[in-house]
This record gives sequence, C-alpha cells and structure tokens, in this order.
Amino acid sequence: SKLEMFVDELPDMPKIQGFRMLNTSPKPKSLMIGMFKKKWKFHRDLPPTPVFAYGASSRRATVPGPTIEALQGIDTYVTWKNFLPSKHILPWDPTIPTAIPATKTGIPTVVHLHGGMHEPANDGNANSWFTAGFKENGPDWSKRTYHYNNNQQPGSLWYHDHAMGLTRVNLLAGLIGAYVIRHPEVEGPLELPHGVEFDRPLIVFDRSFRRDGSIYMNSTGNNPSIHPQWQPEYFGDVIIVNGKAWPKMTVRRRKYRLRIINASNARFFRFFFTNGLEFIHVASDSTYLGEPVVTNETLLAPSEIADVVVDFSKSETDEAVLANDAPYPYPSGDPVNGSNGKIMKFTIKKKREFDTWRVPDKLIQYPSPDLSSATQRRYIAMYEYTSDIGEPTHLYINGKPYEEPATETPKAGTSEIWNVINLTEDNHPMHIHLALFTVLDQTELVRAEEFKACMSKMNDAIKCQISKHARGKKLSVAAHEKGWKNVYKMTPGYVTRILVRFSYIHSNTSYSFDPTGMPGYVYHCHVSNYIAFPFMFGGYIFKYKT
Ligand code: C2O
Repeated sequence: SKLEMFVDELPDMPKIQGFRMLNTSPKPKSLMIGMFKKKWKFHRDLPPTPVFAYGASSRRATVPGPTIEALQGIDTYVTWKNFLPSKHILPWDPTIPTAIPATKTGIPTVVHLHGGMHEPANDGNANSWFTAGFKENGPDWSKRTYHYNNNQQPGSLWYHDHAMGLTRVNLLAGLIGAYVIRHPEVEGPLELPHGVEFDRPLIVFDRSFRRDGSIYMNSTGNNPSIHPQWQPEYFGDVIIVNGKAWPKMTVRRRKYRLRIINASNARFFRFFFTNGLEFIHVASDSTYLGEPVVTNETLLAPSEIADVVVDFSKSETDEAVLANDAPYPYPSGDPVNGSNGKIMKFTIKKKREFDTWRVPDKLIQYPSPDLSSATQRRYIAMYEYTSDIGEPTHLYINGKPYEEPATETPKAGTSEIWNVINLTEDNHPMHIHLALFTVLDQTELVRAEEFKACMSKMNDAIKCQISKHARGKKLSVAAHEKGWKNVYKMTPGYVTRILVRFSYIHSNTSYSFDPTGMPGYVYHCHVSNYIAFPFMFGGYIFKYKT
C-alpha cells in the first residue's frame, strides 16, 4: 500500500546556537554533537525507521540533525562524537577503498561543513574519520574538536558525513544537517523574512523504505564481479522534507524565506509550485546575490542550496504543492512519476496580513570576478573508463584516483580559471571545498568522441587540443546562478569555465595554512555515492605554499 501524501506536519529541526551571549555581546561557544543510532518516524503510516542521527543527545537527535546557527566572526567549536554501534544499518562495499577500522568494529564517520572555509584539520577530510569513543581513526585524523571561525560571508551551509567510502551510506542513514551563518549588521537592514517562523531550512532528499520501515538500498551492485554492492547512484521514490515524507505546512499570507537544500545522494530536483508561485532568489549556496532574481522553477543538483523568498500573498489559490519534474539520473534518465514528482504541500491561510518583511532591490554586493586577476588556467576532465562488459568501472578526474598526491596547487590569495570538461553522460555537480567560484560559461564540445579517445590515451586536455573541441553551443548561466558558489552542475558534453577564488570573497584575506603536511582540500562530484569514493575524485586540490 502506498503512503498517503501531505499527512505529516513539516517539522522544524531543533536549533543550536553556535555562540553564547555575554551581557549583550556574542562570544565563542563549544558544542558537543553526537551521532546516534535510533528510530525515526518518516511518515504517520510507516513503522519507525532505524537511522543514524545527529543531536546533542540520543533523545534529541533528529533526521536531519539540528540546525546550527552561527554568527559571522564568532568561533564555534564542535566536538563531533560518534556513538554508533559496530554494525551499519545499510550494506557497504568493502571492495572499494573504504575506511575500515583495524578491529573491524565501529562505524567510521567524519563531519564536513559544506561551504565552510577553514584550515584543513577542521575540514572533515575523508581520511580523518573516527569510530565510537575515538577508539580508532583514519590516517589523517588529528583532533576531536573542530574549530569553525565563521569568518566568511553570511549564508546557508550544511554539514554531512564525509568518511572514506562510506559517505553514501552514512548520508542515507541520516547524517546531515543545516548550518546557517548570520551577520546581523549586514543582513538586518535588508529586512528579509526573519526569525523562526519566517526563515526556514527545507532539507529535501529521497529514500525508499521496506514494509518494516527500514531504509531500502539496492545492494546487488551494478557490477558485482568487481564491486559486489556499489551502485553509482541511489534513487528513492519517497520524498522527504525535514525528516517527513511529503509533509504539509500551513503558511500565512505573506513572505517566507526558504533555504532549500538538496541533500539527496543523486537526485536532481527541478522545483516549481503547482499554482505558479515564484521563487525570489536572494542567495545561492552560501552567498548572497547582488540583487534578487525571480524564477518560476529552480534546478538543484545534490548539495546545491536555493535560498529563496516565496511570497504567499501572491497566491491565487489556498493550496500550493511544491513539485519536481527533473528526470533521474539527470538529465537523460526516467521522468518523474506521481510520487517523486511531489515534494510538499503548503496551505495558505485566507486572511490577508500586513507584511513587515520585504525583498530590497539591492542585497549584498561582493566583488565580481576579475578575470584579469587569474594566475592559472587548469583543465579538469571527468570521464569514465569502461570495462569489457561495458560497465563504467572507473570514474576519475584527470585520470587520477583519490590516492594520488595533490593534483592542483593554487596559492592562497589567488584566482584561477578552471575548465571542467565533463565527458560522462550525466550531469555532475562539482563541489570545491574551501574555495568559492563563479561560473563564467558552458561550451559544448564538438567532435567529442575524438577528444575522449585522445584523453583516454594522453590524459592531457591541451595535447588533445581542447581549444579545437570547445567550440560548440554556449549555454548561458542563469542570473540566479551567477554569484559566488561552491558547487555547480557540470553539463555532460560541455566545458564549464569557472573562476575560483582561493581567498575570502568579502575581503582580501587569504586562508592561513598549516604547512605540516596535512592533506589539502578536495573537489569532487557531489553525487554522494562518489563522495569520498576514489573513482570520481581527483587528487586533493591544494597544499598551499605561501
Ligand atoms: Cu558536501 Cu566534499 O562535500
């Protein structure tokens, strides 16, 4: 029997402040957030589901985890503690490079703050994993408490597991949560919808369930003779928002700010409202836009964030369903159906209200990309090696697996142009840790097969004459995606040019780097079956020598 839609109320995840107030001034704060195995009700009619959940205690742990609210420039310290049992609730594949504790007990975890800008030891490196009680840890583990200095632009971030080879199952099990950095002096005057009622994260993902309520994950493997359980993608038919399947929410006839996070493993969402309500984008990923941009739909790859205002007073109906029409895999997979084509329902109260919130014409201006400042041009090719039986077996960046040493070594404080060449059939959301970038353009490859053939031998875009191939159609970058981002959709068969800035965008400060040989940062496809999974990783991106 199918689950009925729109029966559960949209939950608001618990909020944890990442600062404390002393008299009237904010001060740093230390938090303990644990990871617990518990049961979670995803739907009124579904038996409780075993999950892994973040929370201040087992009782308070939720899926997604608590929303951490930090203040710009005020340190938040988090001791992420693993209280997980020794056996995973989902099948994982030991034949791919994976964090496996020597004692074979304990579930390796490590937390990455997605969109955060910190020294590498706080970044949640895939090999900095640890098990319950910090009993065992990975080769790059260095400390228990992560220091987030929040010294960056205000915006929406999220945290999630990033353990080597286990990221996909740890995320599927529930290890995700929202993190907001606020900067009251800068954001206050904008008068955007604010406060618990009007400013809400919506964390959206897909899951499949068995009848007993447990999460279903196909574990036969696409290519069992090589990797018994690994699948390149996970798709579920039930759409979850803030931990409930197809929830409902009653809203007042006024503006709300919704920070929509796509926390799916592989599903893209192209959101739209069934009654034509619009999205007024005020930010993307972790950064404000210079001015608001209005759209009727918004396409989010895994890990992208749409930070939008929705003005329910403009609704001509009393109900609006937030829906989705993105094929899966994106862009050339199956069309959505009656279940995964719906997200949640808003019921709009009849009564008109005086709205104290507004969307100003100008938001926050950041320096626009300065092409002349770029000191390097790099070519990053994503492609697959195919086995005899025709299954893609290796997905590499520039032909290199994750274990290779750092492939790119930008200098702190500089900007670079990266040409990302997607030779696969799917759109890959490429995410860069630490750095922000702007998307310049996307150009179709002509005679792509020839280029691919050359790349599989030479592995060198310049020698393979990329400039002769990057000559096809141009795709323009949507206005709401022109700001600074940390992840973007790499269109298959296209070269995407991005300008990456290896310093904070709101000042000329560069990151400090601890030259003790810690691995640098990663860039990777955010289909989370690939995160912390070497086939799709390039090497580490950078080790600074400043
Ligand atoms: Cu959201 Cu490397 O991750």
